[in-house]
Amino acid sequence: MSLVDAAALVREKAYAPYSNFQVGAAIRSVEGNLHLGCNVENVAYPEGTCAEAGAIAAMIAAGDSRIAEVAVIAGSPTPVPPCGGCRQKLSEFADGEVPVTLATTTGLTVRTTVAGLLPGAFDAGHMEGS
Ligand code: THU
Repeated sequence: MSLVDAAALVREKAYAPYSNFQVGAAIRSVEGNLHLGCNVENVAYPEGTCAEAGAIAAMIAAGDSRIAEVAVIAGSPTPVPPCGGCRQKLSEFADGEVPVTLATTTGLTVRTTVAGLLPGAFDAGHMEGS
């Protein structure tokens, strides 16, 4: 199964009663395992979590370390762009050249990279010498 197909399957499980916007994310880790996440909203809106955050949490909880590839899918008119916070979260666990596929449930896809999503990312190197 492709990473996009895996993301589409987990998207069906999203808990999004407030936005009615279900999102699925699938990560293949450098260890070769698949980790899935969906958005989980909350009546206290800021407490909701994004699909990407769920997939990252699943990867870390499974004992894997880094992202090799990621796919995100939603029922949006154009391939869904990850929010700013998720771009930073992905950047924590992925090298800049890691491929990212953004998809719609109607079959549109855009291919980019983690650095493409977050150019000039702040990383630990920027704290050296402080
Ligand atoms: N959402 C994600 O899960 N990932 C994204 O990349 C974009 C937005 C969720 C958050 C919220 O539950 C809903 O989509 C509407 O913003």
